[in-house]
Amino acid sequence: GSIGKDGYRHYMEKELHEHPLVIGQTLQRMVDPASRRVLLPELPFDLAKVPRAVITACGSAFFAGMIGRYWLEEIARLPVDIDVASEMRYRNPPLTEGSLGLLISQSGETADTLAALRSLREKAIHIVSVLNVEHSTMARESDVVLGTVAGPEISVASTKAFTAQLTVLACLTIATARARGKLDTLAEEHLVSALLDLPSRAAEVFNQTDAIRAMAQLVVEARDVLYLGRGSMFPVAMEGALKLKEISYIHAEAYAAGEMKHGPISLIDRTVPIVATVPSNALFEKTLSNLQEAKARGGRLLVFTDTKGAERVSAIAEQMVVLPHVHDFVAPILQTIPVQMLAYEVAVLKGTDVDQPRNLAKSVTVE
Ligand code: AGP
Repeated sequence: GSIGKDGYRHYMEKELHEHPLVIGQTLQRMVDPASRRVLLPELPFDLAKVPRAVITACGSAFFAGMIGRYWLEEIARLPVDIDVASEMRYRNPPLTEGSLGLLISQSGETADTLAALRSLREKAIHIVSVLNVEHSTMARESDVVLGTVAGPEISVASTKAFTAQLTVLACLTIATARARGKLDTLAEEHLVSALLDLPSRAAEVFNQTDAIRAMAQLVVEARDVLYLGRGSMFPVAMEGALKLKEISYIHAEAYAAGEMKHGPISLIDRTVPIVATVPSNALFEKTLSNLQEAKARGGRLLVFTDTKGAERVSAIAEQMVVLPHVHDFVAPILQTIPVQMLAYEVAVLKGTDVDQPRNLAKSVTVE
């Protein structure tokens, strides 16, 4: 049957509001709330013996993979390669037998990702796919499917599938870390608690809708927008820039905040808004000083932060959105939500066809 918009203006708006729900549903499938432990489906290989992972995906799913790499490397101490699926085969990376091929896709039908999956298949790699459509072509060709429980995503711009992918990758990280002896029970409980807390924190993001709309008023006037982030917030910036381009047709570029001084800072003047994602973490001060440099050159700062960072950020930002402070581990999941909401509000102001942006298809079945 057809799915309604439940009173929302667009499917995208409805799906944005489903973030808390789908994070919760996905966790329900992967976490035992009583013991606060992650439960993976039975695997046909030993996670402890995997020497390396290669992650591949397209578009937003690729950015989810980049955040997954931060987690797998930092928490599970597993070396990770990552490529966009359309390029992976050309790099033809030498892969150790028994490595983990981690494919991420909402639809499970993306031609580039499917081709990457098949090329990994030839190399005695374990194929684990993170998929929203569990009866898809990629599902049939994978050794293991880790399902995102996001429900059907209608809007061409991916929203809730992305946070569900991150939720699965976070759980996979915890299970991998445990298998590799990098996480004791107490530490696992701590990380799982941060995940279980997330649906409530995500629901609070919608209290910031007015602040996000105020930001959108500044972005909609721009021809170019620069998105900045450091560490696991860099892929969040990339996701924000892609979403803005995709549905508002405004040119946006994401940069690792520290890389700006190596080139793009020359672009900055009052006409280029700078959208930055800066929760209070170990990289907070460094990112803030990058923003100061941009401001000194006339840059207008639109900043997403959290309650702990708000005071410092308010001193330099023209507009700011303050989210609840959460554990560093889950911060990229939470910070993604307002960044996607900003793109949505800008597109609404521009009056574009939000759910069906020009030239784009929901699932791209050609290479
Ligand atoms: C995201 O907003 C885009 N529409 C696009 O980048 C998408 O994430 C990409 O095409 C991958 O699709 P998939 O997850 O279905 O494989």
